[in-house]
Amino acid sequence: MSGSITGRARERGIIDFRAWQIRDFTKNKQKQTDDYPYGGGRGCVMYAQPLADCRRAVCDSAGRESIHTICLSPAGRPFTQDIAKRLSREHDRIILVCGHYEGIDERFIDACVDEEISLGDFVLTGGEIPALAVADAVFRLVPGVLPDEECVTDESHWDGLLEHPQYTRPELWEGRAVPELLLSGHHLNIKKWRRAMSLLRTRARRPDMFERLSLSDEDLKLLREFGS
Ligand SMILES: C[S@@+](CC[C@H](N)C(=O)[O-])C[C@H]1O[C@@H](n2cnc3c(N)ncnc32)[C@H](O)[C@@H]1O
Repeated sequence: MSGSITGRARERGIIDFRAWQIRDFTKNKQKQTDDYPYGGGRGCVMYAQPLADCRRAVCDSAGRESIHTICLSPAGRPFTQDIAKRLSREHDRIILVCGHYEGIDERFIDACVDEEISLGDFVLTGGEIPALAVADAVFRLVPGVLPDEECVTDESHWDGLLEHPQYTRPELWEGRAVPELLLSGHHLNIKKWRRAMSLLRTRARRPDMFERLSLSDEDLKLLREFGS
């Protein structure tokens, strides 16, 4: 997070982030943050109290009554570019709560969490990687983090499409050539080719996304022309 694009944006004061240690908010000598689950079963569940106290401290440090709080959970809503857009548009601060072990006492979630987000249909050992992924996806939408707006709007998932394939030098690599049209310098034809490749790639790889598109007459023409 401190490296590369986000690191530079932080240095320039465009974004900021901070990790908070839940153990600092425990009220027991051992700084224990979890306990056995009521009802039996394996593993441990994170206490509500240190999480709620930590959240309060984060809000107080920002001089806010409340800050939009997201809990990372495999049982949450699957994360999408649309959620990233909404978060970057509607919130100037976000708290990302990372679970561990068997998860978090549901009463903390009921009392303090605004939404639960999942990174996908798989289970990780902790919420840190999903939190980094959500933060990164939101940060790059903050104006000024990327050099220009097209970096964001041209990419996969911005408008329900996957991006067209990309190529760079050399023109011929291990017997594989760059599509000739990309070398033509004909901007309109290149634009059409890219749109066609986006449509075809989305249809082939993500029929669920393709079904949701409203295709223009021009798109249908491109599909006929390039589809075969
Ligand atoms: C081992 S998981 C807990 C899984 C939980 N017992 C369940 O079955 O839903 C521990 C923590 O990792 C994080 N985590 C794991 N998989 C995740 C995913 N796909 N998306 C978001 N967070 C995830 C959550 O913060 C979760 O509380």
